[in-house]
Amino acid sequence: MEIEHNAPPEATVLGGFTPEGAGRGPKVYIETYGCQMNVNDSEVVASILADAGYGLTDDMEQANVVLINTCAIRENAETRIWGRLDVFEQLKRRRKGVLVGVLGCMAERLKADLLERREVVDVVVGPDAYRDLPHLLREAELGQRGVNVLLSREETYADISPIRLDRYGVSAFVSIMRGCNNVCAYCVVPYTRGAERSRDPQTIVNEVQRLSHMGYKEVTLLGQNVDSYRWQPEGTPDRQAVSFADLLERVAQVDSHMRVRFATSHPKDLSREVVYTMAMYENICNHIHLPVQSGSDRMLKLMNRHYTRQGYLNRVAAIRDILPDCVITTDMIAGFCTETELDHDQTLSLMREVGFDSAFMFKYSERPNTKAARHYADDVPDSVKTRRLQEIIALQNELSEQSNRNDVGRCFEVLIESPSRKDPSYLMGRTMGNKAVVFPGEGHRVGEFVYVKITTCTSATLLGHIVDEQTATPLLKKQCSGE
Ligand code: 5AD
Ligand code: SF4
Repeated sequence: MEIEHNAPPEATVLGGFTPEGAGRGPKVYIETYGCQMNVNDSEVVASILADAGYGLTDDMEQANVVLINTCAIRENAETRIWGRLDVFEQLKRRRKGVLVGVLGCMAERLKADLLERREVVDVVVGPDAYRDLPHLLREAELGQRGVNVLLSREETYADISPIRLDRYGVSAFVSIMRGCNNVCAYCVVPYTRGAERSRDPQTIVNEVQRLSHMGYKEVTLLGQNVDSYRWQPEGTPDRQAVSFADLLERVAQVDSHMRVRFATSHPKDLSREVVYTMAMYENICNHIHLPVQSGSDRMLKLMNRHYTRQGYLNRVAAIRDILPDCVITTDMIAGFCTETELDHDQTLSLMREVGFDSAFMFKYSERPNTKAARHYADDVPDSVKTRRLQEIIALQNELSEQSNRNDVGRCFEVLIESPSRKDPSYLMGRTMGNKAVVFPGEGHRVGEFVYVKITTCTSATLLGHIVDEQTATPLLKKQCSGE
């Protein structure tokens, strides 16, 4: 996804052109923070607004409506949004009549507080209320501030074709479910995104088919906990229920040349069937994002994760048994309530034991109203959290580099995603395992599959050069296809 000029670097801005079907009416600028699900939600919002006659722009200065799709997962995510609201306030002073809307998880969590910023915020809309946005914007035009933060048990936006506004048209997100029924003690998501519900599988398959026809080369199926996907309309017998493994298979069958990814898997729910399905279909990528959060049984219990350290290690062993080349990545939280040095050491030792290929690593941030905020003291001093996080990051850098070094000399099929940021004569693509690869372009284009031999690496990137498929030795080809 492209990051545009007048947004801060951590934001995603959709747009850059007015897609076919989008209205020529007032122009909407959408800035997105947070997870992939939020990016996809903004594409749904773009579609709803285009149907209502709005045009889209990637330039805030041209916009009549400025929307910010927000994240509430950690305090610093919210701090950033307050900062952006100050910028929007200045914009509104400069250009009278501009409307500002706050969408997403922070809108859900902080509705009243946001409305108190009356000089900036005109509409506040939660993740399940996006269909109401055109109506709320119309009311706001008449001077009435609009709020809808109702959570739903049914809304999946199944009938809406998200407007794809990524610049390169290679890889698309497809939401397969919404909400979350787990109550991980630290996590605000169940409160901001509501109860879990799965989307009709036929609408998912149709969307993937459309993407394939549009020339997309990769889809990522999204859910907070994809392994608990289940489609069973009332009155259908159990044996006809569609599980995540079934859905994955159906999606993989749409177009054998289209890569299929998914996120996120929960260690307590990831099934053997899913891993077998991955093994059966060459176009399902050999990557599982399996957040562990901590290596200490005591922490895992307090976090309400419903698995033990050994249980997690068993899952990893089962994955590697079936898919020896599977890339395994994770999320980690440093300094959760009552975490001791011993607990922290357990996290470090688990990381070594698994040898994660990469990880997202965070300092624990207490979120109001979560189980942890209500029942446990946030008692690890910030300086200790910071130091533990640094140790986790330093170890992960070592592990990532080790994992990348193991790939030097090997050859991978790479899907080209974009020109390299540092030097546009180089291209950036990804292996099936989701590792970033940079190589000289040699006339190849974004969206093509090429074979790349890895010659060197850093902890974050593989570097190599394209090998001609025709001249590649049979052995190389075998390695390329991951056999
Ligand atoms: N503090 C820090 N990290 C958190 N995450 C979720 N909630 C919190 C929190 N309160 C992390 C978890 C999760 C990822 C998406 O964000 O690691 O897997
Ligand atoms: Fe949050 Fe846990 Fe649900 Fe993930 S599985 S969204 S961490 S409650």
